[in-house]
Amino acid sequence: MLGSVCFLIFPWMCALLMFSGAPARSAESSFPKPMDNVTVRQGDTALLKCITDKKVSRVAWLNRTSILFAGREKWSLDPRVVLLNDTAITEYSIQIRNVDVHDEGPYVCSVLTNKKPKSSKVHLVVQVPARIVNISTDITVNEGSNVTLTCVAIGRPEPSITWRHLLKRGNKFLSEGEHIEISAISKEQSGVYQCSSTNDISAPDVRTVHITVNYPPSILSAKGTGAAVGQKGVLQCEASAVPGPDFHWYREDRRLINGINGIKIENKGKQSMLVVFNVSESDYGNYTCVATNTLGNTNASMMLYGPGAIHDVSRAQLSQHFSICLLWTVTLQYLVKL
Ligand SMILES: *[C@@H]1O[C@H](CO)[C@@H](O)[C@H](O)[C@H]1NC(C)=O
Ligand SMILES: *[C@@H]1O[C@H](CO)[C@@H](O)[C@H](O)[C@H]1NC(C)=O
Ligand SMILES: *[C@@H]1O[C@H](CO)[C@@H](O)[C@H](O)[C@H]1NC(C)=O
Ligand SMILES: *[C@@H]1O[C@H](CO)[C@@H](O)[C@H](O)[C@H]1NC(C)=O
Ligand SMILES: *[C@@H]1O[C@H](CO)[C@@H](O)[C@H](O)[C@H]1NC(C)=O
Ligand SMILES: *[C@@H]1O[C@H](CO)[C@@H](O)[C@H](O)[C@H]1NC(C)=O
Ligand SMILES: *[C@@H]1O[C@H](CO)[C@@H](O)[C@H](O)[C@H]1NC(C)=O
Ligand SMILES: *[C@@H]1O[C@H](CO)[C@@H](O)[C@H](O)[C@H]1NC(C)=O
Repeated sequence: MLGSVCFLIFPWMCALLMFSGAPARSAESSFPKPMDNVTVRQGDTALLKCITDKKVSRVAWLNRTSILFAGREKWSLDPRVVLLNDTAITEYSIQIRNVDVHDEGPYVCSVLTNKKPKSSKVHLVVQVPARIVNISTDITVNEGSNVTLTCVAIGRPEPSITWRHLLKRGNKFLSEGEHIEISAISKEQSGVYQCSSTNDISAPDVRTVHITVNYPPSILSAKGTGAAVGQKGVLQCEASAVPGPDFHWYREDRRLINGINGIKIENKGKQSMLVVFNVSESDYGNYTCVATNTLGNTNASMMLYGPGAIHDVSRAQLSQHFSICLLWTVTLQYLVKL
């Protein structure tokens, strides 16, 4: 169709069209000069150069098989395509502004010299910086679950993808590729995961995913205390858990309630404090702190003891020292006798 219209209007052009697929031939004169591939970034301007000489009678630029320019006449309707005018008479170059990926492909500068058509082919290569287009959302899982994270990136050339686990003591490389699978996740594997995508066209595109790993409580410390009658006694309990622990306190089998019987329970994050404001003889004994969350519970026991207990300990230590002392005295006396 185009071909027949073309024959009526520009017979010479059809010759060019037919020859445009053929590689540039190096005849007597070496124009049009062959050109390397032209590589531009998406959005930039591509300059396609064609150098002819004064003997040239007809010239044209083609995008695949469609004519962009025939001589100085513009055939293309695309406003991004312009012919450069402020150039030497022997130069026949075009500019493509705001290049996009669909512009990639072969462009041909066709020249008719002494009724011999020649063409030089330029391959326009369009590069696109790597960009992450989809990444897993932040998730919360229970310890022991299998977790898969996905990161999808586009770009030209095809970007590479790297996964890392961001840790306080440095980043840990995990793997290359869109997916990572973590089987039977542990609480140490919670935290921030980073997907980095690059094709060396521009700075890497980096996004992160947060994994929260739920686990049942474990008691980190349980501190008993000694307090005299009438004084204040403070018992402390610390537990690690995600979601954060709730605390309950027991005296033997009896649940202790905040604000009742001169007792205060103060919970702050991982820690719980039991305050007995006015210690009496009957308060001495064994207390149990229970830490719970949605995944389970655990407990630890500790003592509130009186000054008597402290004296007992000192007395035990004293008697121990005394016996060692006595042993030495006896031994020395024995040695002296020898
Ligand atoms: C030009 O690009 C084409 C297609 O990408 C490729 O096949 C060819 O090898 C490249 N030529 C040069 C000289 O880089
Ligand atoms: C070429 O010349 C025309 C008219 O003289 C002008 O409108 C156009 O902007 C020029 N193109 C370039 C790329 O300079
Ligand atoms: C080149 O041809 C392709 C395919 O027809 C088209 O998508 C693209 O817009 C054209 N580019 C230019 C600069 O003419
Ligand atoms: C992103 O990935 C998720 C899971 O693989 C999928 O359900 C969603 O449709 C994707 N979104 C886009 C915009 O591709
Ligand atoms: C997790 O993956 C392992 C294999 O990697 C499989 O044996 C196990 O059943 C999976 N667990 C769950 C909860 O899907
Ligand atoms: C502490 O308790 C004792 C006996 O129960 C009571 O006599 C005393 O007044 C109390 N002290 C304070 C400061 O409440
Ligand atoms: C305190 O109570 C707990 C639970 O009732 C028990 O396991 C533990 O042995 C007790 N400790 C002492 C020192 O009596
Ligand atoms: C403390 O833990 C033990 C063992 O897991 C359990 O038998 C006991 O009932 C718990 N005590 C309380 C007060 O929850």
